[in-house]
Amino acid sequence: MPVQIEKLIKNERSEKITNVFQSIYKKKPDFFVRVPGRVNLIGEHIDYCGYGVCPMALDQDIFLAVGTAGEGKKLRLHNVDRKFEDFECELDDNIEISLENGPPKWYQYFLCGIKGILETLPKDQLQNLPSICVVVSGTVPQSAGLSSSSALVSAAALAAAHSLKLQLPKEELANLCARCERYIGTQGGGMDQAIAFLAKEGCAKYIEFEPLRSTEVILPTGAVFVIAHSLTNLNKAATGDFNCRVVECRLAAQIIAHKNSLDWTKIKRLGDLQKLLGLNLDEMLALTGECLKTTPYTKQDIIQELNTTSSLVDTVSLTPNTRDIEKFKLYQRALHVFNEAKRVKQFYETCKNAAGGEDTLLTLGTLMSQSHESLRDLYECSHPQLDKLVEISKSFTLGTRLTGAGWGGCTVSLVAPENVQKFIDSIKENFFKPLGVTEGFEFIVFTTTPKSGACIYVHNE
Ligand code: GLA
Repeated sequence: MPVQIEKLIKNERSEKITNVFQSIYKKKPDFFVRVPGRVNLIGEHIDYCGYGVCPMALDQDIFLAVGTAGEGKKLRLHNVDRKFEDFECELDDNIEISLENGPPKWYQYFLCGIKGILETLPKDQLQNLPSICVVVSGTVPQSAGLSSSSALVSAAALAAAHSLKLQLPKEELANLCARCERYIGTQGGGMDQAIAFLAKEGCAKYIEFEPLRSTEVILPTGAVFVIAHSLTNLNKAATGDFNCRVVECRLAAQIIAHKNSLDWTKIKRLGDLQKLLGLNLDEMLALTGECLKTTPYTKQDIIQELNTTSSLVDTVSLTPNTRDIEKFKLYQRALHVFNEAKRVKQFYETCKNAAGGEDTLLTLGTLMSQSHESLRDLYECSHPQLDKLVEISKSFTLGTRLTGAGWGGCTVSLVAPENVQKFIDSIKENFFKPLGVTEGFEFIVFTTTPKSGACIYVHNE
């Protein structure tokens, strides 16, 4: 199914973005694009290993006003938030996303989406591109683990696709966006882009990969999800931490493969290895214990284990920003991945079979807490402030975990309705106030319900 096209119902935000668009580009926008951020309920750092995850879309989103002009072949970008500079470039097939000078610029995420769409076009169509003018308005907190970057990449791709009259199925757009976001340098899985396009109002989604598919997850009555910001940020494209975890999982898969007489150079993900071996997750856990040592591996250890050369490890297993890493923890990362994949299945089954009531919520909460402990201890992608927030959250929640990539950003808590206010008050008092925060709480601790996925809006006349 292609992305839905709806009539725009005017509101303050659409009026504002229209006015900004008109004052800059001297014409009305032709259409609007909305792509939501997401909160992942469970299934962290396993999408890029090939395992299913369970996110839901947020109210907070990226909203674009877009206009095309017949000639010029230019992309022009303006952000209503003036801390983001304007940007302009030629629209052609050699858009460059240079990663040399520090963290990526905001517009480079946009360029990822544009590049992804332009790559699907035949050469002759590239000669006749229109100019695309865009005003961007974003409400997803940045570097908070709520997927502001994927929402921007996906919104850009959708704007380009609609400007060029391409009608792609949602799954294809999601896969394309997952691929083209890697131009920013991080080797993410496909969760964020998948939920951005496939989300449905009122339910979370169980998302599985290759082929990409999603199943509705009806959350049990009485389950309230609260997001809280740890007030520490991580831009995952600005450090090598994220890619380090991706390659640790890959190396774990390759060493287990090699020890089981498979061609390790053909294996990229733990999930693919599991399929090839035809084992279940418990058997994979046992095999991890047999094949991997618990102490860190040096690059030399890896070369020896795989009976190969440094240059083959560099090209087959590592990324440019992980080639100089000295120690890789393979056993701990694989243990997290297989156990987290099990928890996602249990979470999904629990929601599916939910008779309602306290037991269901307790089970879901326990799975979320276990997920956090595993991310903190085995995957080492938490942050002291996140751990503190999780500790403080224990009094009034059924379970709390970091959400998104980690190393900062937000937690998500499962809370019973009667405890929501008490929980929010206690976070304000015991977490935010000691940090000197006295206002703006609505942006850093809020309840959330599942919202719909990407949509295109056209004028209502
Ligand atoms: C980021 C990536 C996702 C996923 C999460 C961690 O958001 O973009 O693909 O790997 O981190 O679960």
